[in-house]
Amino acid sequence: MTRPAVLFVCLGNICRSPLAEAAFRAEAGKRGLDVGVESAGVGGWHQGDPPDQRSIDTAKRHGIDISEYTARKIRPDDFVRFSHILALDREVFGDLKRMKPDDSTAVVALLLDYVKGKEGKSVPDPYYSDARAFEYTWLDVCAGARGLADALEGK
Ligand code: 4NP
Repeated sequence: MTRPAVLFVCLGNICRSPLAEAAFRAEAGKRGLDVGVESAGVGGWHQGDPPDQRSIDTAKRHGIDISEYTARKIRPDDFVRFSHILALDREVFGDLKRMKPDDSTAVVALLLDYVKGKEGKSVPDPYYSDARAFEYTWLDVCAGARGLADALEGK
């Protein structure tokens, strides 16, 4: 089997998907899973920017440095380069389904589909909220990371 590769996608690629990328990198590392991991946004407003400072601070509280991550916009070839493209919310999921090219080979789903009891749900956008909201984002993406890692391990 070819190595799985996961792309986490939110709106801006500065708040939620960098945290999902960090959480999943940590989870995959802990389990010794050989998997590619990146994140992107459906919007290009923040391309080239580092994550939102509140996301950097949140990851840091959990021992992970994401200050070098750089935002980028999703591209059509991502749908063949990645085995899994996971939307952080339902709006983004709708965008991904619309932009999915005919030759797409990726599984496109919501991250929280991998969390028992949260299937079909969105990770709320913390952008207009406070630091506490980012901590809830962290809890959601960690739960998603565990569920996704279980699925990739066939559990
Ligand atoms: P994210 O949060 O999608 O979790 O990165 C947002 C970041 C920026 C904007 C919206 C959401 N924005 O409108 O610029």
